[in-house]
Amino acid sequence: MADPRLTAVRNVLAVLDGRSLDSILAAAPDSVDDRDRALSAELSFGVCRWHRRLDALVSSLLRKPFGNKDRDLHVLLLVGAYQLLYSRVPPHAALSTTVETSRRLGKSWASKLVNGVLRRLQREHEAMEARVDKSPEVRFAQPDWLYRAVCADWPEQSAAVLAALQMRPPMTLRVDLNQTGRADYLGRLSDAGIGSRPHATVDMALELDAPVSVHSLPGFDSGLVSVQDAGAQLAGDYLDLRPGQRVLDACAAPGGKTLDILQRAPDLKVTAVDLDAERLRKVAENLQRAGLTAELEAADAADSQSGAWGAQIYDRILVDAPCSATGVMRRHPDIRLLRRASDIPDLVRRQAAILDACWSLLAPGGRLLYVTCSLLAAENQRQVDSFLDRHANAEAVELPNRPGTRSGRGVQLLPGIDETDGFFYAALQPRAEYV
Ligand SMILES: C[S@@+](CC[C@H](N)C(=O)[O-])C[C@H]1O[C@@H](n2cnc3c(N)ncnc32)[C@H](O)[C@@H]1O
Repeated sequence: MADPRLTAVRNVLAVLDGRSLDSILAAAPDSVDDRDRALSAELSFGVCRWHRRLDALVSSLLRKPFGNKDRDLHVLLLVGAYQLLYSRVPPHAALSTTVETSRRLGKSWASKLVNGVLRRLQREHEAMEARVDKSPEVRFAQPDWLYRAVCADWPEQSAAVLAALQMRPPMTLRVDLNQTGRADYLGRLSDAGIGSRPHATVDMALELDAPVSVHSLPGFDSGLVSVQDAGAQLAGDYLDLRPGQRVLDACAAPGGKTLDILQRAPDLKVTAVDLDAERLRKVAENLQRAGLTAELEAADAADSQSGAWGAQIYDRILVDAPCSATGVMRRHPDIRLLRRASDIPDLVRRQAAILDACWSLLAPGGRLLYVTCSLLAAENQRQVDSFLDRHANAEAVELPNRPGTRSGRGVQLLPGIDETDGFFYAALQPRAEYV
């Protein structure tokens, strides 16, 4: 029988070694019982989300840190502490099962230590939490560099944003409005026993009261509804699509926005490019679900010579660029453990190269929409400012800033302020005198 706590320990260790939690969970064997799978996923996500704070609490209870070969015991204590502080697992069960897992790790010698540390945490957690929370980086469980960057870029909003990044987001859906109205779909969900509500600010979006399997969503298998954060659903609006246009989706995988674009106007001619051929297959699957098609090409969007996609011009171009993903830490809490400050300059260079290559393919009178799921000014407003400095023939188009906050020449959506993940949008067009 699989032990969900043991699985969580292995998952968190793999994240600490640089693997993404999504890829680890996707590789889990099908034979695992659904309840065990759900519990190990909750523990893995939770420990990543609160890693820095749990680490501060547990470390303060250890007389000396574990050596490298016992890193698994340290992570097991984080899993135990997560259950005591953040889960609905009854404390006695959290304690006994975590101690049992130390035996399953083949480290029975540590079971008394595991028991002692967790019992003391259970007894003294209030005073201990107050002590570690004096450091805001620990309280918000963020690495120093990321905490400082969010505070520097969003001085007024940072407290709300950092607090929101610690929350579990609702499962959010996009309804294909060509097939059904949002109110009708809310009714269909209610008939299926699934509680939901309309999103406060985004027209096509609705939020579920609790996550469900996608296959239990009425019409999911035929593309009536898709899982997509409300903030991501604005790309289709901001592209200002018109019938018959030729559209380039330059960083398309897994295809959430490609499908959204095609569902808005099925007679568009869409080319979807992604560097990662494996991920591009997901775009094909997403479109197939809704019976829609696009030209798919695995290529480098920073090099317009890299394929047939670069030999034509487009009325609309979406650059949903590779980025730090700091805006989606609610859904991907492992980002705070995987990302390094030193990743940002390279990402900024790659984004600029993709923007430059795609700009050269924009038709006169066209529009390029630059999108990131980042909170960082370097990838967002400063990226767009330097683009405009490099391209005298380009200008920014004003986008509505509800939802969102005007930010340089674009609009920033912020978790905790906009009830969405963090996204940046800027629309660029050729200046009239150059057309
Ligand atoms: C933010 S994700 C795109 C999400 C997608 N637009 C959606 O809505 O589902 C960024 C994508 O850019 C791709 N990518 C990274 N570098 C690229 C490049 N040089 N050319 C094309 N795609 C690239 C990554 O493989 C990744 O799939």
